[in-house]
Amino acid sequence: MDIKAIRNDFKILGKEVIYLDSAATSLTPDCVVAAVTMYYSEYNANIERGVYSFSQEASRKYEEAHAKVAAFFNVDEKEIIFTKNCTYGINLIAHSLKLEKGDTIVTTLLEHHSNYLPWLRLGNKYGVEVKRIKPTIDGFFNMKDFEAAIDSHTKIVAVTHVSNCLGTIVPVQEIIALAHRKHALVLIDGAQSAPHFSINLKDLGCDFFSCSGHKMLGPTGTGILYIKEALHESTEPFEIGGGMIDEVDVEHYTLAQGWEKFEAGTPNIAGGVGLGAAVQYLKKIGMKNIEDYERKLTRKMIEGMKTIKNLVILGPQDPEKRTGVVPFKIPNMTPHEIAFTLDEIAHIAIRSGFHCCHPLLKSILNEPDGTARASLYFYNTEEEVDIFLDALKEIL
Ligand SMILES: Cc1ncc(COP(=O)(O)O)c(C=O)c1O
Repeated sequence: MDIKAIRNDFKILGKEVIYLDSAATSLTPDCVVAAVTMYYSEYNANIERGVYSFSQEASRKYEEAHAKVAAFFNVDEKEIIFTKNCTYGINLIAHSLKLEKGDTIVTTLLEHHSNYLPWLRLGNKYGVEVKRIKPTIDGFFNMKDFEAAIDSHTKIVAVTHVSNCLGTIVPVQEIIALAHRKHALVLIDGAQSAPHFSINLKDLGCDFFSCSGHKMLGPTGTGILYIKEALHESTEPFEIGGGMIDEVDVEHYTLAQGWEKFEAGTPNIAGGVGLGAAVQYLKKIGMKNIEDYERKLTRKMIEGMKTIKNLVILGPQDPEKRTGVVPFKIPNMTPHEIAFTLDEIAHIAIRSGFHCCHPLLKSILNEPDGTARASLYFYNTEEEVDIFLDALKEIL
């Protein structure tokens, strides 16, 4: 991987910044910015509504973007719905589920609020139990807890693929197999996995997969929801209205098939086209190359941090079991003070606080102030990691 060439693809990296907050949102390569700009400057029109050439071109480009994302995840393009973010996709599925007394939902205390609150609300709405599996402080699970929790009453199991708070990779294949043996549906929150390693959704076999386009080089306001085709019929769209119907008369309507069924109203056309360009760019670099390079950077960061006296690293110590999301603490400094100081002394951008993971931080990690969190992506360099480590030493 030619990092220098890659960095030249990101105009923003010409600025004085060491961006270590890609778990929140990634930087955007120039090809994605160009795809968005081109929509507005070359063929700006609504999709699937006009017979004139701009509208035809906009429709074609938007459809092509679905096809590119579907190919990226090895599924049919009918199964890929463009959303505004990962949260929306999870809410769409939670909203659509019809539960009965006695049903249960299984989730975990490792989840981002986006994969926790929709299930809590659903549990309250139907008066059903939401079982919460507890991870260890490193974000690992005992599979026996899933075996005990998932039974014939379980309607859905909703679990994250990678923890945004600890970086831990969750063995979701095992959980999916277990849940399917009990005929439960499975939703995977892929916000922190899809940007960092290759995901073949057909092989993975989950029923639903939601992730953020904006964390995988796409424009903000983009997300991806995979719904297995066999479940399209039983899944109800969140919103209904224009652009997603088959036929409508005064009394009745029938909905379109495929992704159109779940994308009511004018979508984020420019964002969708930009997202198509983003996955094309990721594919060109190669997800395996990205994964290997990020693991090398993560190892360097963790090994370096381990040598700094009084600095506490959270999450798995083994880089094979985590991604480049690295939370840490410094005694007598709040996470916000650490983040502010890193920015001030070395223009380093990290996240601080609760990372939308209050249940984990409060009930498992016992970190009332949250943590500081550095997160890597493939455009970061070893030199940047060195500067980060030097800045931490200076602070301490
Ligand atoms: C694991 C995880 N799930 C869900 C989300 C929510 O993503 P979005 O902001 O795209 O809705 C995030 C965002 O940080 C996340 O890390």
